[in-house]
Amino acid sequence: MKGLILAGGSGTRLRPITFTRAKQLVPVANKPILFYGIEAIRDAGIADIGIVVGDTKDEVMEAVGDGSTFGVDVTYIEQEAPLGLAHAVKVSQAYLSDDSFVMYLGDNLIKEGITPLVEEFRQTRPNCQILLAHVPNPQMFGVAELDGDRVVRLVEKPKEPATDLALVGVYMFDSTIFEAVNAIEPSWRDELEITDAIQYLIDHGRGVHPHIIEGWWKDTGKLQDLLEANMIMLDHLEAHIEGSVDEESTITGKVVVADGAEIRSSTIRGPAIIGRKTRIASSYVGPFTSIHDNVLISGSEVEHSIIMPGVRIEQIGHRLSDSLLGCNVKVTKTERRPASFKLMLGDNSEIEVV
Ligand code: DAU
Repeated sequence: MKGLILAGGSGTRLRPITFTRAKQLVPVANKPILFYGIEAIRDAGIADIGIVVGDTKDEVMEAVGDGSTFGVDVTYIEQEAPLGLAHAVKVSQAYLSDDSFVMYLGDNLIKEGITPLVEEFRQTRPNCQILLAHVPNPQMFGVAELDGDRVVRLVEKPKEPATDLALVGVYMFDSTIFEAVNAIEPSWRDELEITDAIQYLIDHGRGVHPHIIEGWWKDTGKLQDLLEANMIMLDHLEAHIEGSVDEESTITGKVVVADGAEIRSSTIRGPAIIGRKTRIASSYVGPFTSIHDNVLISGSEVEHSIIMPGVRIEQIGHRLSDSLLGCNVKVTKTERRPASFKLMLGDNSEIEVV
């Protein structure tokens, strides 16, 4: 069996971060989302992984390399444009050949991994196995209608969903999927939908097995979902302190302080992670905060946030929370007049002031 991870696409809902980086590389608990998918596939006993890449190909390749750091063999498959999930399968046909495979959307996170699910597929051998989860907002997903244990209908992002069962972004297929992806037509949003390809399998009498998952799962396409993913994954970490913490600092709860980090006269309340060569001085870092490498936080308070590499937060008078700051962002206090907010924001930035 092979793995296929989809790491192309455009990431419009995470702009401006995704103007300059792949959405699959945004860090959750200081680790790119994509890495969780690679590890989940590897842990399910699959060593050959194809990664579908688009415009952000160079960045993804630089982060993942040949896969050896994960103990897998990675092959990159170029998709000329984000023409849909089924299109991504189509362009991967030569790589996948006759093997069955697990397809994993590079922006999805499944807390418990996928090992038992892949095992179930290997044993029962349907043509396709889909994962479903009950969600409060099914119109944002592919939605399934079941009749007992049989999948009757799948609709991509229906305006009026018939059920609350969303398609999770992990699918298992045998090679019959190629007949489907080569037969379907583009949808109203001009994409070749994997949902339509699976419907094709159903309509042609193929075995499509649904598995409803009960554990935590997220499509991290939006800020709130990313922050929730960050909370869940931070809670999973094992506390350890490699960096230096002075006597005036207090660390409580599950906290990781990476090698080379410095905590001075500060309070860190976990779950939280502080990256390499990051300095926290005279500051408060609250629960559910991931602070990446080479960050400076001084005289400030931050919680429930994702802070990417190279950020500086200095002497800000209010607590920063529910935020995602991209690489090298600076948030500082100034004494210069006029006493006003001075902003330099990229397109689609979002600011909430108090
Ligand atoms: O997250 C689950 C949902 O994922 C399912 O419920 C939907 O049925 C399924 O269509 C998909 O919906 P999204 O609209 O969230 O898919 P998105 O465009 O975000 O793409 C998912 C991943 O695949 C993302 O990492 C980008 C990548 N991708 C996407 C497209 C359209 C590609 O690599 N190539 C593509 O052409």
